[in-house]
Amino acid sequence: MPVDIAVIPVAGRGTGLLPLTKSQPKEMLPVGRKPVVQYVVEELARCGLRKLLFITGPGKAAIENHFDINAELIAYLRETGKEDLLGELAFERDDVEYFYTRQRQPLGLGHAVLCARPMVEDRPFVVALGDSIIGPTDRCDIVSRMVEQFEREGADAVIAFGEVSTEELSKFGIAKPRGEAGEVFVLDDLVEKPSPEEAPSHLAVTARYVCGPKVLEHLAQTSPDAAGEIQLTDALRSLIAEGGKVLGVRLRADERRYDIGDFESYFQAFTHCALTDPERGERFREYLRELIDSTEG
Ligand code: UTP
Repeated sequence: MPVDIAVIPVAGRGTGLLPLTKSQPKEMLPVGRKPVVQYVVEELARCGLRKLLFITGPGKAAIENHFDINAELIAYLRETGKEDLLGELAFERDDVEYFYTRQRQPLGLGHAVLCARPMVEDRPFVVALGDSIIGPTDRCDIVSRMVEQFEREGADAVIAFGEVSTEELSKFGIAKPRGEAGEVFVLDDLVEKPSPEEAPSHLAVTARYVCGPKVLEHLAQTSPDAAGEIQLTDALRSLIAEGGKVLGVRLRADERRYDIGDFESYFQAFTHCALTDPERGERFREYLRELIDSTEG
């Protein structure tokens, strides 16, 4: 069965970015010229995903509005001679279908994914976190590589991994690969937020997954954690423990994940996008140099 549905969870509270996220979704925060979730949608469309299901929740209506066709704005731009701006709305016409369902309470990423079950039924699907950008934003194809492995190997799930520093290990789910981890590897286990001593590798779960039907079966059996949340990692661990085939695919050296969940990563993502902006990047680079020189010493 071809993989053509992507589930985009966007229902989290976003407390890591307060007060910015008090009344606006973190997935709509600007990174350079676009909101975070537009990069996610463009990446998925580029990788051939045609049905995008958002798992949304209270206070997230701006996301739905962003992907609607705004005929009134288009007419206004035409009537006022601002046709040159129409290109900025071209993403509205991307060849994808949008679906929305609500997670009625933010009970964790695993619970959000489970909300997709009535639509995906027993079909395989991609999960792409709506708050995480993978760069280079105009050509990253990690999801295509994962789908290829999923289909070729008849896997039950495929997870994207990126290398992290020792200091960052305790922020992520970390891979325990079977043997030496190449570009693609078999997972023996996942260790959630380990200390540097406990960490079996430096490979961290990276916001993109391909899931076969067994993932939803395991999610449905997964109990909430101490914080009352159902975790996708717990379901994947239980699938591995039962003998399921779960693969890891590594980001390439030129690919990088920005998790817009804390200010450090948000500032990095914005700066990177501003620096690589085709029109304004060069001037911004000069400005940053001047600013750093003037504030040093
Ligand atoms: P996070 O793990 O960063 O959780 O979500 P969060 O609740 O948004 O953030 P904090 O912990 O309060 O700072 C990763 C992605 O999963 C979605 C989020 O919207 C984000 O895009 N998510 C998370 C849900 O859809 N539902 C949830 O219950 C939790």
